[in-house]
Parts: sequence; structure tokens; C-alpha cells
Amino acid sequence: MMLVKLGGSVITDKMNYRTLREDVLFRLAGELARSEESVILVHGAGSFGHVIAARHQLQNGYNDPSQLMAAAQVMEDVRTLNLAVTSALNRSGLPAVSLPPSALVELREGRLDRLELGVFRRYLDLGMVPVTFGDVALDSRRGLGICSGDQLMESLAREFAPRRIIFCSDVDGVFTDDPVVHPEARMLEAVDRETLSSLPRSQRCADVTGSIFGKIETMLRIAAHGGDSMVINGLAPGRLAAALKGEKVPGTRVVV
Ligand code: IPE
Repeated sequence: MMLVKLGGSVITDKMNYRTLREDVLFRLAGELARSEESVILVHGAGSFGHVIAARHQLQNGYNDPSQLMAAAQVMEDVRTLNLAVTSALNRSGLPAVSLPPSALVELREGRLDRLELGVFRRYLDLGMVPVTFGDVALDSRRGLGICSGDQLMESLAREFAPRRIIFCSDVDGVFTDDPVVHPEARMLEAVDRETLSSLPRSQRCADVTGSIFGKIETMLRIAAHGGDSMVINGLAPGRLAAALKGEKVPGTRVVV
């Protein structure tokens, strides 16, 4: 089984509210379909989630009634994105089923505490492609919170022990610095705990679920569950297809 995350920066234009990259999404759906692998797909929220979530501090929990409309708006927006993802999969011939964290997840102080994994298992066993995503979710301590795609990846990796875990990003892999701001930044072939501690903690745009630094920490925990774990460029045609086959592609391996 393959566990794949399509980062929000790949399938959306992260700088512009609710902007889908439809061509990229459709191409990636085709690459997944042609692989003929059994897949669980996770996608980020990109500009369908982070902008409003950050404005209303939803990642810090519920503390003001004005946040309810914001939470509802984020839920609506990420479901709009999710519908685009599942319909791209369906049109590519993959039977997708949407599993929204707002209904299936409980957080505890911002951390994923409970996920209805049995539902994923049963749809997967039937031959469908479970699709879940960064969303607003219930929090047993804080009322509400944000469940990121990376938290879902971690829980799903632990449960399903996938053969490969692939993160599709908007750059070739993990760099020594933000390659958009620092063109001299070097891509790392592999990242482990040691390389991680030498990386700068920069942040380019509103992201309520943490910088690349936090994401790599999560990836390292995920890689500990076995399986090849890597970050590739989802904007480069053919890379996801090649990575799914286990071919050597430009990217960064996450090693424990
Ligand atoms: C964020 O999920 C969820 C919301 C802001 C609602 P992710 O953290 O997985 O999204 P991306 O990949 O960074 O866009």
C-alpha cells in the first residue's frame, strides 16, 4: 500500500485564497491511477485553509464565538478542495471516498488523539481510495482545532505500514534553505535528525500547521514506521508516477 500526501502548495496557489491548480491536480490523479497501486491519499489545505484559519487563530483552539463562522468557512472551503480532488480521481478511473477529519478525528491540545482507522481499512479493503485532508476538527481540551495532513499521515503510516510514503511538495525536496528566497540553497539527498537540526527555521507564508521544519520532524517520526519515505516535487510531471514505481527520482529521502 502507498501513502501519498499532495501538499496544499502543490494543488493550490498558496498565496491566493481558494485558488486551485486544476491542471496539476488532474495530472497527479492520472499518475496515481496509472500506478495501479492501492493508495491512501491525504491532501493539504493550501489557500483553501490556511488564510482564514490563521486570521481566526483556529490552531490555538476555540475561545471566541466569532471563530465558529470562521471554522465553518474553513470546513466549507477544504471540502470544496476535497471535492475537486475526489472528482479528479474519479475522472481518472480511481474510486475515491472522502473521509473528512471534521467527522472522524478528535484532537487533544492540537495533537491527533483519535482517528476512525477502521473506516479507512474497510474502504481500502473494498478497493476504494480513501481520501482525507487537512481540516478543522474537534479537540477534547480546546473545543476545536486544526488537524493537518501531516498528522493524518503519521497516524495512517502507523496503522497501515505502507510500502512507500510519498510527500509531494512544490519544490524538488528538502533544501538547506528556502529555495524561493535563497536560490543558492542546496537540495539534500537525504534528511535525518542530524541534518534537520542544522536547517534554518524560515517561513514564507501564512501556515497554521508549522514551517517545513515542523513538517520534517513529523516526517522523521513517520519514517520510523518503516517503508521508504520521501519528499518529491509534485509540480514536475512524472515524478509521482516514478516514485510510486520505486524508480530513482530527484527528491529527498527521509531516513531514521
Ligand atoms: C492544514 O493542513 C489544514 C487547515 C489549515 C485547515 P496541511 O498543513 O496539511 O496543509 P498544507 O499542505 O500545509 O497546505
